[in-house]
Amino acid sequence: MKFNLDIPSAGTMKAAILQQKAGNLDDAFKIVNDYPKPSIPSPPLDWVLVRVKAFGLNRAELRARDGNEAAKVEFGLFKDHWYEGISPPEILGEEFVGFVEDPGSSDLQKGDIVAGCKYGGGKAYNGSYAQYTLCLRRLLWKLETKLRWDVLGAIPMSFETAYGSMFWSCQCKPNQTLLIHGGTSSVGTAALALAKHYGINVITTTRSSNKVQRLKNLGAENIIVEDSPDKLSQVMSMYNLNGVENILELVGPKHMKKTIKHLSRGGYVVVTGVLDKDWSIDFSPAEDIPSGTYVTMYGAHPEHIDYEAKMQEIFMLVEDGKLNPSIDSVFKLDDIVLAHKRQGK
Ligand SMILES: NC(=O)c1ccc[n+]([C@@H]2O[C@H](COP(=O)([O-])OP(=O)(O)OC[C@H]3O[C@@H](n4cnc5c(N)ncnc54)[C@H](OP(=O)(O)O)[C@@H]3O)[C@@H](O)[C@H]2O)c1
Repeated sequence: MKFNLDIPSAGTMKAAILQQKAGNLDDAFKIVNDYPKPSIPSPPLDWVLVRVKAFGLNRAELRARDGNEAAKVEFGLFKDHWYEGISPPEILGEEFVGFVEDPGSSDLQKGDIVAGCKYGGGKAYNGSYAQYTLCLRRLLWKLETKLRWDVLGAIPMSFETAYGSMFWSCQCKPNQTLLIHGGTSSVGTAALALAKHYGINVITTTRSSNKVQRLKNLGAENIIVEDSPDKLSQVMSMYNLNGVENILELVGPKHMKKTIKHLSRGGYVVVTGVLDKDWSIDFSPAEDIPSGTYVTMYGAHPEHIDYEAKMQEIFMLVEDGKLNPSIDSVFKLDDIVLAHKRQGK
């Protein structure tokens, strides 16, 4: 079953097409040069056509590639159109940076540099693994920047999500401590970079001792290698008897029941990720929430933060060398399979 946004096309473009029944990563994508290039739908609403120059990979795309159904919440602005059994579109891709190709009826100009997170695009309609992509203006940030495209492409979704989780959903403050559960993920490393910049102490986790050095290179000082189910609790009680003020839970709600025990009174846990793919849990507030602590979630939404100004600030901090985005590898669109293989590690 397909979601139909009725997007007209004009001309052709290069794109990485998801092969729905591939089952094998080597055959999961096909690069084509004659995919219909989208054009502004009518009525235009606030659609903008963007020429994509770079994009980051997201965990949700790995799930879509493997045939895991997206959850309703992941459809973002398009969740009212969600129905069970929906197939991912032919072109995946949640985020991108590029130039405005056609501003539609928006305030943007052709040639403006923009970054965007599609929140539903790449799940409900075609995403950014292509030369051109459509995005709603309210999900785009116009940028003034001199950063290279590969650096720009590493920033949008990871930094926006980390920022929103830490400062919109949680209430991170300088000198407090943030536990990042799932610290090697792109959101986790963005949170680490933001925490370092804003003077927040970090305890971060990985399941793999091979990734400790990478976290150290990014500036992590307190790293827990969670190589057994009890490890986190054992080490946390050694680190901080009174608990931490904020927890960024990226591994999933099931794990939140465990991490929340390490909150201090008045502390926040934000459930932002589901790396273990387990979306819901049995939950008993009286048993599972320590008295006087707060449970929250982060799901990006344009009205939450003054996104454009905040993201411009973040891009400037990167440009000034004050924030360090973690770029694991850079690939060409032709090598999308290699990129997916790398992300799965
Ligand atoms: N709420 C939002 O608005 C929002 C936005 C973006 C992303 N997210 C979510 O945030 C999470 C992180 O996304 P991402 O794109 O940053 O991920 P990513 O970069 O692909 O994460 C890779 C890391 O995840 C860890 N991992 C993978 N499977 C795991 C499992 N079953 N249990 C524990 N750790 C596992 C691995 O860490 P180790 O091997 O080091 O343990 C790996 O290094 C995802 O669940 C994603 O859907 C939410």
